[in-house]
Amino acid sequence: MIFRAIRVRLTVWYLAILVLGLGALSIGSWFAMRASLFHAIDHELEDRIKGVEKFMNEQIASLTLVEIRDEFREHSVLGPGGDLFQVCNRRGEWLYRSLPLENNRTPIRTPDQLGESGLEENLTVQKTPVRFSSRRIVVRGEPYTVQVATPLPEFYGALQRFSTILLLSVPVLILVASVGGYWISTRALRPVEEIRATAESISIRNLSERLTVPDSGDELQRLSETLNAMLARLSDSVQRMSQFTADASHELRAPISLIRTTAELALQRSGLSAELTRDLKQVVAEAGRTSRLVESLLLLARADTGEDGLHKELTDWSLSVQEAVEQASRVAKTRNITVHLSTPDHPLAVFGDLEALRRLAFILLDNAIKYSPESSVVRVSMIAERNQGILSVADSGIGINAEDREHVFDRFWRADKARSRGLGGAGLGLSIAKWIVDSHQGTIRLTSEAGSGTTFEVQIPLHVRSKGAL
Ligand SMILES: Nc1ncnc2c1ncn2[C@@H]1O[C@H](COP(=O)(O)OP(=O)(O)O)[C@@H](O)[C@H]1O
Ligand SMILES: [Mg+2]
Repeated sequence: MIFRAIRVRLTVWYLAILVLGLGALSIGSWFAMRASLFHAIDHELEDRIKGVEKFMNEQIASLTLVEIRDEFREHSVLGPGGDLFQVCNRRGEWLYRSLPLENNRTPIRTPDQLGESGLEENLTVQKTPVRFSSRRIVVRGEPYTVQVATPLPEFYGALQRFSTILLLSVPVLILVASVGGYWISTRALRPVEEIRATAESISIRNLSERLTVPDSGDELQRLSETLNAMLARLSDSVQRMSQFTADASHELRAPISLIRTTAELALQRSGLSAELTRDLKQVVAEAGRTSRLVESLLLLARADTGEDGLHKELTDWSLSVQEAVEQASRVAKTRNITVHLSTPDHPLAVFGDLEALRRLAFILLDNAIKYSPESSVVRVSMIAERNQGILSVADSGIGINAEDREHVFDRFWRADKARSRGLGGAGLGLSIAKWIVDSHQGTIRLTSEAGSGTTFEVQIPLHVRSKGAL
């Protein structure tokens, strides 16, 4: 994974190119340095040969062989490498041969063996590497070979120092460049991580949020602008869909209640046959159920469009739960279920909508009663803990399977459709409950054991300044 991150890949590529480039440059400059040093040496040797040629041109007619040798000996002590020097004639006879070369028996080519351009070679004299330059010169019609030389250790030392510098500096350079490269690419890509994090947090519930647009004028700015435009279009469509649902539910309210009241009125007439009475009662019941469904749809659709209609104020959460318990107890009684309520003796101050909080508690109680066997007990308890108010509703009913637990808050989701519908449910209760909890910055979770009951637990932050007291 880490090797697939763009910044790592960029750095690796950059590094590979740098290593190749610097490697080629180092090797190239080492050879260039070597060539230029040899060039300088050969140039110097050339000068010395010219000096010898000049000397011989001027002196050879007037001096004897012995005198020439003496002059050469005197001449050779001057200057660096001057003692590496020998001259022979066409027959290979020595005009002069310095001591180190004589001891070493360094070979020489006769003038006829040498070409016009002469010869440069590296030999070893007394275990020291030496550079030799041999030239054919002509003095007064007679050809000679002049061979001069200079020791190389100093030259090799310079070359050695140069490669040491390269070997030390190139790795340091590569290290610095790779750290720098990584840093630069991390910096350049940081906005991408920000865009990713924001994009991850955006869902259908907060489609109005937008990515922060970096003011960089680059591709990332364009990317965020494009994504924002896409979000705007999506949010617009979702808004229209929610608005449609809200309008449709709103329009359905009046005719449904008209159906219900008409049926109720008809039921009050005298002389109805038993069959008609039964049918009218069914109409009343179905109209009631449909009207509750439409109310729920309207509530959720309004929540989606952002006009949640909540009126939040500082209230005692226990009061709304008490009201819900009273309301639910009436339903519970018909099935001989007892609802047990325990609240703390101090108020639980929350900043919330009393009616929504009552509805939340009622949804949980309604489910607890619906999915519990007759004559069982539903326990409702409220406590304050670390600046959180906690409401828990526990039943000993049919429970919820592990794989179903993640779906219970989905709209229209019911574990057992036929059963839930028979009990008057459409699967919207817990979606509404979740929305109410979310809009109170709370959390809702459940623990359940299939067959032995369910506990829903809601946490809502308490109003901190008063530490839970009103
Ligand atoms: N206390 C509970 N015990 C068992 N099942 C539950 C409980 N509460 C909710 N459920 C399951 O979650 C589903 C969704 O609940 P809800 O959204 O209130 O819809 P409804 O009650 O209208 O069916 C229910 O149909 C039921 O299967
Ligand atoms: Mg329900």
